[in-house]
Amino acid sequence: MSFLRNCWYMAGWADEFVAGQMLPRTLLNEPIVMFRDSLGGLQALHDRCPHRFVPLHLGVLANDRIQCAYHGLSFDCSGSCVHNPHGNGAIPKAARVRTYPMHERHGMAWIWMGDAALADPAMITDYTPMDPQTAYLGKSYLHVKANYVLETDNILDLSHIEFLHGSSLGSDAVAQGVIEVEQHGDTVHSRRTTHDEQLTPELARLRGVPPGQRVDRWLDVRWNAPCNMLLNSGHTPSGLGREQGRSVYVTHIFTPHTDASTHYWFAIAFSKELGEEGRRLADENIQWLRQPFTTEDMPMLEAQQQVIGDQDFWALKPVLLASDGGAVRARRLLEQMIKQEQMPPSGLS
Ligand code: FES
Ligand SMILES: [Fe+2]
Repeated sequence: MSFLRNCWYMAGWADEFVAGQMLPRTLLNEPIVMFRDSLGGLQALHDRCPHRFVPLHLGVLANDRIQCAYHGLSFDCSGSCVHNPHGNGAIPKAARVRTYPMHERHGMAWIWMGDAALADPAMITDYTPMDPQTAYLGKSYLHVKANYVLETDNILDLSHIEFLHGSSLGSDAVAQGVIEVEQHGDTVHSRRTTHDEQLTPELARLRGVPPGQRVDRWLDVRWNAPCNMLLNSGHTPSGLGREQGRSVYVTHIFTPHTDASTHYWFAIAFSKELGEEGRRLADENIQWLRQPFTTEDMPMLEAQQQVIGDQDFWALKPVLLASDGGAVRARRLLEQMIKQEQMPPSGLS
């Protein structure tokens, strides 16, 4: 499956971008060099000098220009070569580098990998609950050697927490939870509600559930193309309505690194109204979440990728279960969007 191009992909946490420093990162198989310019904006260039194709990030960034380390051509934020130290200094027409629109929102850096003329910041997935202005965030990152859509499947079908994370995030009530899948426009919602559940002691402690108390738990996942998810995870004492419960927001954002590897950005948010306690909870929760994600999900996803290799997912005829509704809906929608994007404009053949 090829990639959706005309959309925003997360390229990093905004605070990874420090003025004057280049941040090289491969996204969708393309080497990109990004940096924060002197006005505080984010810039991205193809990380390949058009002269002899060395990575530009090996050069020097000064005055919002990158000077190639090999023979000294300099490129500005528009990708134009602005200095040629050789001969009469004339700039060859082909001495240009592709640039990519970037935008910062909700503490995240977003990049547009398609037609720059279509880049509209209004299309950035809404992560208001994760805004560092209003929330303390526990943030983390994993580099996973698996295709990003396998990652989407993983989050849209959280029945797996009963089996893969039985001693941490799961319990024996999860697979029998009530599932609802809804689609509104291009947004897919996959919701799972469990009843009369006993959380693991550690999860209960981290989420403020008194020892021994049974709960009803909801795990609501929102998916937006291409691979941006927001989980709202909450609980109430068994039998009470949601409005009497409490919940947290967790991001699962996947950006393709290559066809078979993924940048995985995840974070958990606690309101700043909680004061120092919110900061402590954010730190403690993210440390704790990292454990099952690293030692349980990641090896499973990487083993899955090894088996699938570059074979087409549907050609393998996957068995479909009741829990697959959300993941299948998102896959189909993404495939449709990619197909539509690749269709020649009407009137052309
Ligand atoms: S490779 Fe960059 S200037 Fe020669
Ligand atoms: Fe998991």
